[in-house]
Amino acid sequence: MTDNKNTIFGWILFSGIIALGLSIVSGKVFHADNPEAPEKPGLFIEAAEEGASGPGEMSVEEALNTLPQADLVAAGESVFAKCTACHTIEQGGATGIGPNLYGVMGKAIASGSFAYSGALADKGGNWDWNAMSEWLKNPKAFANGTKMSFAGLSKIEDRAAVMMFMNSYGSNLAVPEYVAPEPTEGEDGATDGEAGVEGGSIDPVEASEAMDMAQPVPSQGGGTTTN
Ligand code: HEC
Repeated sequence: MTDNKNTIFGWILFSGIIALGLSIVSGKVFHADNPEAPEKPGLFIEAAEEGASGPGEMSVEEALNTLPQADLVAAGESVFAKCTACHTIEQGGATGIGPNLYGVMGKAIASGSFAYSGALADKGGNWDWNAMSEWLKNPKAFANGTKMSFAGLSKIEDRAAVMMFMNSYGSNLAVPEYVAPEPTEGEDGATDGEAGVEGGSIDPVEASEAMDMAQPVPSQGGGTTTN
């Protein structure tokens, strides 16, 4: 009987020590004392991505990389049907209500042979991806007083496609790279780790995997939040 009690107390004491040790180790593995907890940036990235299909809008860089370039060019050709009432795109194409757009991507704004409005002529700068996207989204907001009476393309996908289409005619602006933020596995990693703790031993491989997962998260979160 006493022997049994000793054994029981022994086990309770032993498991208490193990639990203490494990909580210290797991605190180290999961950076419990690190203010940059992986959960927060992870959730933030997910929210931002959901926003892209909802009320928010994806960046020009992302929109230019949603499809292979050839597919975007093809989609852009259909979007450009909205422009052909006023614009030609072929080299040497006629001036219409608007200027010929051959080679326009990357070119100085309002630098063709066309009687531009003062609003556009005074704008300055080049037609880079962002400027062109802003212009096509809302020409009047971009150049108040412009002659281009076109409501604008509200969808970033349409703007990206038509820009890529224009870029294939006499322009060759480099397409900005876009690296999709990887889904953060901080939560899964933590669960895996804790399963190991319950089992009473920490598998060094599992622990190091958890480390690997925990490490890139802070820098990744830092990079995407600045966007
Ligand atoms: C109703 C006629 C009309 C439509 C439709 C139209 N544009 Fe224009 N566009 C113009 C006019 C006019 C200008 C000159 C604007 C100015 O001088 O203020 C212009 C200017 C531009 C410029 C600047 C060119 C340069 O040399 O800097 C671009 C780029 C452009 N349009 C693209 C488009 C695209 C792409 C579409 C279709 C999505 C489109 N436009 C639809 C009339 C139109």
